[in-house]
Amino acid sequence: MNTVGITEKADVCPSCGKEIQFESATFGDLSRKFTIACDCDREEREQEQKRKRAEDIERGTAIFRVGMQIGTGIHKRQRKMTFDNFVPLDGQQEAFDTCRAYAEDWTEKTEHGLLISGPVGSGKTHLGSAICNAIIARQPVKEYEAERYISCDPDGPVDYGENGLYYSGSLRPEYSGMKLISSVSFLNRIKSAYDSKDEDPEDIMDGYKEIKLLVLDDLGAEKATDWALEKLFDLIDFRYNELLPIVATTNLTTLEMKDVLGDRIADRLRSMCKLVSITAPSQRITAK
Ligand SMILES: Nc1ncnc2c1ncn2[C@@H]1O[C@H](COP(=O)(O)OP(=O)(O)OP(=O)(O)O)[C@@H](O)[C@H]1O
Ligand SMILES: [Mg+2]
Ligand SMILES: [Zn+2]
Repeated sequence: MNTVGITEKADVCPSCGKEIQFESATFGDLSRKFTIACDCDREEREQEQKRKRAEDIERGTAIFRVGMQIGTGIHKRQRKMTFDNFVPLDGQQEAFDTCRAYAEDWTEKTEHGLLISGPVGSGKTHLGSAICNAIIARQPVKEYEAERYISCDPDGPVDYGENGLYYSGSLRPEYSGMKLISSVSFLNRIKSAYDSKDEDPEDIMDGYKEIKLLVLDDLGAEKATDWALEKLFDLIDFRYNELLPIVATTNLTTLEMKDVLGDRIADRLRSMCKLVSITAPSQRITAK
């Protein structure tokens, strides 16, 4: 029987082959030998920890940006609408190029916007969302901001609470400097603030007036009551005067816009926004 081999194997470090060091300790009558861990793989372990940390921060950064999408008002479906997954058809190419260039060039100093006009399902919301998503994708995220999101589920429930200081596992809306909302939802949001005793409708309105970039989706789809037109005018006129950009999407042509929204809104939008027309038919696919 050969036990020597076994002893020798146990006495050397399996990774570097160096002899393992022992330390003796005595507890009363008992004396024991402890192995001292070989530190040959310390550097490797440190590298591994660094790599893991960088991976965690990258993941946290991506999820923080989902928080920014939520804070912008970008719905789940629209979170995935990017320039990368938009394959422009003939009638969409110019709109695609203009919107992508706009997103690339956009800074907080940008004063002009876009008016994206086209038929149902022709990619207007996709392009409007892609603008916000592209700007969010390049926003710097601080390490401590990313850190809070490492263990969050990007598809998980959103914590809209005011006091959720720690929110492991739930997302929180983060400020992006942008808001995306359909004009119907915008009007409902203002209306519900009037009906609520906890909210000041002026505060809600100010949020949309003062944000750096407003994407107003589906303008003209709202019921054009005097009240609705007055609120829209208040919003658009404020941004017009403050040189704050609006990216608006609409099913209306410029002529129809005058009829539906009135000359004063249509004329301001024409002056603030570069007109972008889409002529493609609906690209909305049938649910499987
Ligand atoms: N060129 C394209 N490449 C990929 N997907 C596209 C393209 N054009 C449109 N789509 C998709 O088609 C669907 C309809 O587009 P979108 O919602 O942007 O239309 P819309 O113009 O906003 O319509 P509506 O006027 O009804 O609001 C979306 O799922 C969008 O992602
Ligand atoms: Mg749309
Ligand atoms: Zn070793």
